[in-house]
Amino acid sequence: MNRILYFTCLISFVIFSCQNKKKEPMKSQILANDVHSYSQPNVARVVHLDLKLTVDFEEKVLSGTARYTIDLAENATQIIFDTYDLNISSVFVNESEEAKFELGTKDRILGQALTVFLPEGAHTVSISYSSVPSAKAVQWLDPEQTAQKDKAFLFTQSQAILARSWIPCQDSPGIRFTYRAEITVPKGYLALMSAENPIEMNEKGVYNFNMPQPIPSYLMALTVGDIAFKPIGKRCGVYAEPIMLDRCFNEFSEMEEMLLSAEEIYGAYAWGRYDVIVLPPSFPFGGMENPRLTFATPTIIAGDKSLTSLVAHELAHSWSGNLVTNATWNDFWLNEGFTVYFEQRIMEAVYGRDYSEMLALLSYQGLLEELEEIKAKNPKDTRLKLELDGRDPDDGMSAIAYDKGYLFLRKIEETIGREKFDTFLRNYFAENAFQVMDTERFLELLRSKLEKDQLAEIQIDKWVYGEGLPDNHPVINSEKFVNVDKAMKSWIESGDINRLDSGSWSTHEWLHFINNLPEGINNQELAKLDDKFNFTHSGNTEVLAAWFQVTIKAGYAEAHKSMEDFLVNVGRRKFLTPTYKALIERDPSKEVARNIYKKARPNYHSVSTGTIDELLDWKG
Ligand code: BES
Ligand code: ZN
Repeated sequence: MNRILYFTCLISFVIFSCQNKKKEPMKSQILANDVHSYSQPNVARVVHLDLKLTVDFEEKVLSGTARYTIDLAENATQIIFDTYDLNISSVFVNESEEAKFELGTKDRILGQALTVFLPEGAHTVSISYSSVPSAKAVQWLDPEQTAQKDKAFLFTQSQAILARSWIPCQDSPGIRFTYRAEITVPKGYLALMSAENPIEMNEKGVYNFNMPQPIPSYLMALTVGDIAFKPIGKRCGVYAEPIMLDRCFNEFSEMEEMLLSAEEIYGAYAWGRYDVIVLPPSFPFGGMENPRLTFATPTIIAGDKSLTSLVAHELAHSWSGNLVTNATWNDFWLNEGFTVYFEQRIMEAVYGRDYSEMLALLSYQGLLEELEEIKAKNPKDTRLKLELDGRDPDDGMSAIAYDKGYLFLRKIEETIGREKFDTFLRNYFAENAFQVMDTERFLELLRSKLEKDQLAEIQIDKWVYGEGLPDNHPVINSEKFVNVDKAMKSWIESGDINRLDSGSWSTHEWLHFINNLPEGINNQELAKLDDKFNFTHSGNTEVLAAWFQVTIKAGYAEAHKSMEDFLVNVGRRKFLTPTYKALIERDPSKEVARNIYKKARPNYHSVSTGTIDELLDWKG
């Protein structure tokens, strides 16, 4: 008897809650309009995704179903998703009711809106679909393009608006959802996502994932390959192709220490584990902060841990970006400026102030160079708050968001004192965790904590809405770089290379040296330097890229082969863009650059071909 009563109550409760759900207004916060997404989150929004995909390396296709749990405003009759070249085969509501849907016209940047018409009482939407081989987010690699050269590989890069090319989604950074996924891959392959991950292959090739914290679509990530794992500490580890694993393990031995330092500064790490996967060299970025699993370029595996600030950077995004997320891509500096600031703080905590000041000065010098370029093209793009309407959000990925953003935060720190600023930031992350932030709201929070004279000193509006770099910017001092300048001077004045006292220079000192070689240095001098320091065959990709800037300008032929190999093997856009630009400057007919690009292009991800195609007027 009791049992029946219990079940009756339970069933009425379930029915009641379902009915209630329909009538209840949306639970989620009102979101700002995002010009880079078709979705209308204030009408209908996703809250959870169950993704089921099969990976077909032969056809270069991902196919399966994305089932979303949705949250609707009263009277909502449709939900809109973003897609880019997806083949949609069917849409069902509440598992079994076939729903009408419509694909809008294709925009070159935004793709197509997928509108699903909702019957009353809709609480899930299941979209069956497949991606195309040229899906912008996905790079399908042949075995020759990997380190081990015997198995295919794939990885995705979703930021900023490429997630829609492999999952139909509400592709706006303000819309967060939890997810589970089941990914089926061929035998002998491991799949990993931005989620709780397996650490070894299984027989069936079916992998299950869970991401219990809500994330925006740009943090959806998948990689599949012959991948192995090695733990580094309690919460950290590294994934890589087996042949690369030990080198990666050695390079990242300080990861756990970075994580502990980061937590000490801004509070507990919210995502459980923090692992890094080192991908094949075509990965278009240095790193990508996919939650729980940073995707990284192998170009940071230098053998001497000299380029691991990139790990600090991606780790820092676990707070700035992944926890508190830019509302739209116009607020991108909130993600990247904060992250560079936090990266420097982690590096300072682990390696000392001398070290982090070298990084800061390199970033400052890079900023000055880029500022000139951006000013000439579109001076408005030198503001922190961007206006990217009608443009690719990729246009906002410049040193402004990163390095001007960093300097602004450092200016605040220097004005109000580190202790106060740290308290402010700790609260900021705690109070806004798993939420969006826009520039205006951040400034409001900041202003409420500052004294009048501090506001007058900082001049917030000048930094955020003004062009260029305000005069009151912090001044960065690096004793180590001063010494490099001195050594450079005595070498140049004496003309004797043996007077160049490079003692135990680190990679960063060498970079400062190479970046500041005298304008118009001739081939003989370059040859002498090369004889002594072997830059042309450096194992450090940052050194190589900086050196090629000089050698291309000077027409130093001895470095040409190495430079060409570099461009063909490495797909990291940060290295490609300046190198191709230097080639074009040297040979405005673009023939030299185009000949190399022809060979290199098949190795690049769409993010990189997008940029280089434009530079070289490359047509299909
Ligand atoms: N999130 C970015 C990469 C990104 C930004 C991808 C915008 C797509 C659109 C990542 O955290 C990053 O900043 N990577 C840098 C690392 C560096 C600053 C240490 C990179 O790849 O160079
Ligand atoms: Zn970043």
